[in-house]
Amino acid sequence: MLKLAIFGSGSGTNCQAIIDAVEAGMLDAEIRCVLSDVADAYILERARKHHIPAIHFDCAPFKTKLDGEAEQKVLQILEDHDVNFIALAGFMRIVKNGLLNTYAGRIINIHPSLLPSFPGLDSGKQAFDYGVKHTGCTVHFVDAGVDTGAIINQKTIAIEDSDTRESMMEKLHAQEHIAYPEALQWIAEGRIQLDGRRITLGPCLSG
Ligand code: GAR
Repeated sequence: MLKLAIFGSGSGTNCQAIIDAVEAGMLDAEIRCVLSDVADAYILERARKHHIPAIHFDCAPFKTKLDGEAEQKVLQILEDHDVNFIALAGFMRIVKNGLLNTYAGRIINIHPSLLPSFPGLDSGKQAFDYGVKHTGCTVHFVDAGVDTGAIINQKTIAIEDSDTRESMMEKLHAQEHIAYPEALQWIAEGRIQLDGRRITLGPCLSG
């Protein structure tokens, strides 16, 4: 059973999609807690509405990473909540070695582009401004690089001439909300097989 912690810094629509998938019986997981580095992030409110522990942690003095004392506190929170898997969902900080080593191979992220195109920040804007005709989202394992881990799931959208960045992002988010629960369910079923960088879906091992 996946005992999930979901990390986010913002509105938490991907977290909501994961909560909804669990509640609908489409995802074999328990959400043990939702964590945010932003005290008033709406992701925490979403968790509270579903009676899921919602925890804010302070990352000071770091502005862009989760490291040092904050990382130690987070590791303790995860242990206290018996977490065995981490889903980053709009978590806007770089995860460092303490968390990566403790949860090696058990941290995944969703990114709003078709990696390896447009890693890093503002990927939707980057893709739109570049003028690509297709973009999408990627669910991938987290490693020490920025958006470089092995790819689990991708969904694409077409960017029509009539699209604005806003309408493109709306379509993209809708695909994220499908891709993330789907990827988590593959992991829950023990279907993910990693061969070098390539992930293939094996038979279900859990049932
Ligand atoms: C999502 O689009 C996710 O892909 C992106 O932040 C958004 C969070 O939305 N993540 C990143 O950019 C990570 N580099 P949400 O809070 O509504 O789930």
